[in-house]
Amino acid sequence: MKLKIYITRKLPDAVVDRLREICEVSMWDKEEEPVPREVLMKEIRDVDGILSMVSDPIDETLINQATQLKVISNMAVGYNNIDIKAATERGIMVTNTPGVLTETTADLTFALLMATARRLVESSDYLREGKWKSWFPMQLTGQDIHGSTLGIIGMGRIGEALAKRAKGFDMNVIYTNRSRKSKAEEELGIQYKDKETLLRESDFVCVLVPFTLETKDTINKEELALMKPTAVLINTARGGVVNEDALYEALINKEIWAAGLDVFQEEPVPIDHPLLTLPNVVALPHIGSSSINTRMKMAHLAATNLIDGISGNTPKNLVVE
Ligand code: DGY
Repeated sequence: MKLKIYITRKLPDAVVDRLREICEVSMWDKEEEPVPREVLMKEIRDVDGILSMVSDPIDETLINQATQLKVISNMAVGYNNIDIKAATERGIMVTNTPGVLTETTADLTFALLMATARRLVESSDYLREGKWKSWFPMQLTGQDIHGSTLGIIGMGRIGEALAKRAKGFDMNVIYTNRSRKSKAEEELGIQYKDKETLLRESDFVCVLVPFTLETKDTINKEELALMKPTAVLINTARGGVVNEDALYEALINKEIWAAGLDVFQEEPVPIDHPLLTLPNVVALPHIGSSSINTRMKMAHLAATNLIDGISGNTPKNLVVE
């Protein structure tokens, strides 16, 4: 009898066909809508594997419905949508897709930094709304990127890839991390600082930590108060690592200059969210890894991890906490 799997969102045919060769596949086939919880509650009952997305909260109640589940393969490097403890207690493996999205996410992070610093979205709206009447000296002036200091909070794979890009723009790169990265310091010419010094010295602060209980509100009122009034905050990690109420207050009170956000505490971010009313916030719909090539690589890697997990092998990208 073939093993059964459930895919929580429509995936490209090439990936689904690969899985169909090995197992019986059911899939939520709507591209833009997440699978309703009650559907997933039912589907999880008798499958051997689930291929999930960051938009699917897989909590203990859901996990407890499973009777033969061996692996939850998340198509993302982050896995804060899954209750790892509950899965582990039930002997269910959880996998993610690290590595394949590093460069693409670093590209987007740098693009967001540039767009926020140079007010690209606001400038484009200004033109389209017919506000461009003439050239004038201080029109839509932004912050310089070259020669400025970039502070990276969380020097993992994406942090290092971002530092490389920043060096190409003659930025001075400082970082803070749970541990020193001597090799990266040497190879990339970056410097370790404690968090407080980093916040005080940076013109741009990029948060690139995974979302955990410890990293919740990494940037809160106190951290924002330490930043320069000309500083730009960029978050392409997870919404919960920046306290959005504190960020809104800091922007309104001009404690910092602007923010570029690809992620939000609640996703999709409610359209009436206060941050979206501010012209100095560049907001994107969680597209960090969204290039055609990278999303295909992520989908294939998630499929490989799933196949390994259901066939009794240890998947390459097993999450171990
Ligand atoms: C990830 O992989 O965790 C991203 O946030 C999803 O693109």
